Amino acid sequence: MPYEGLTTIEVEVEGGIAWVYLNRPEKKNAMNPTLHAEMIAVLEELEGDANVGCVVLAGRGNTFSAGQDLKEFFRDLSGDPIAFKKAQRNANDWRWHRLEVFDKPTIAMVEGVCIGGAFTQMIACDFALAAEDATFCLSEINWGQIPGGLVTRVVTEALGYRDALDLCLTGRKFDGIEAAKLRLINEAVPAAELKTRTRALAELLMSKDPEAYRATKHAVRYVRNIPVREAEDYLAAKIGELRMRAGTGAQEVAIRKFVEEKSYRPAESSYTSVSDKIE
Ligand code: COA
Repeated sequence: MPYEGLTTIEVEVEGGIAWVYLNRPEKKNAMNPTLHAEMIAVLEELEGDANVGCVVLAGRGNTFSAGQDLKEFFRDLSGDPIAFKKAQRNANDWRWHRLEVFDKPTIAMVEGVCIGGAFTQMIACDFALAAEDATFCLSEINWGQIPGGLVTRVVTEALGYRDALDLCLTGRKFDGIEAAKLRLINEAVPAAELKTRTRALAELLMSKDPEAYRATKHAVRYVRNIPVREAEDYLAAKIGELRMRAGTGAQEVAIRKFVEEKSYRPAESSYTSVSDKIE
């Protein structure tokens, strides 16, 4: 079994959804170098696993993650720049570079704490749902640090300028309800409903054509930082790539349903926000 023998991660695949749990509850799922290495291997496996249509990232012990392991990641590696560089590269690889353009839908399911470095993977996921009473905090300034790794970069990507400055400079705690108001997450729900809501969203995302989902995710992520003309060209090329990977089948079926069969209406299958009722 590909997901056995892991010491810091637990994976449960059920109904096409891979529930990926950071599994160091005794340390509030603080991320040590072993966890980063294991997550790289796990994501690699999940991306190619035909039984998996959606990845949910969560944490054991009803908590998401207390960020980087201050002892094992920072202090223990402080005298070993090569080991530190490797751990840092692994950390950024899975939490951002890999997740940002992961081929399948990804959802961060946040309960308990989400602190510091844990913001990176939470923001990288396509969607983030949290318990209303979850605790978020960019605590680095309280440790005499800046939000390093890629945290400052991804926070400024997710939030407006004023809110990014506020959270980074004050290091204050805030709950899931405020995180939703800031649009740092899609939605906050009562803790007891979080898993059900997450499953419903995962099922909705898995109902989309997988190749169209993948290409659309790439398109949204990549066009933001390129000029309009290059974006126009990129999107045209991306449509070409989509046709090459998927053929024209999915698009043709959808158009036929609309034109000939008249069985397709956008309002029947779409929703504009996770805040809308998913069912
Ligand atoms: N790195 C290493 N260990 C951590 C950790 C971290 N980021 N966060 C928590 N832990 C460990 C604690 O040291 C403790 O270990 P111990 O039982 O061996 O002493 C265990 O997890 C439980 O934490 P504890 O502080 O006892 O629980 P709590 O419920 O009172 O508080 C937190 C939980 C998360 C609020 C608190 O531990 C905390 O503030 N952690 C630091 C988070 C942070 O600032 N991270 C930023 C890193 S970039």
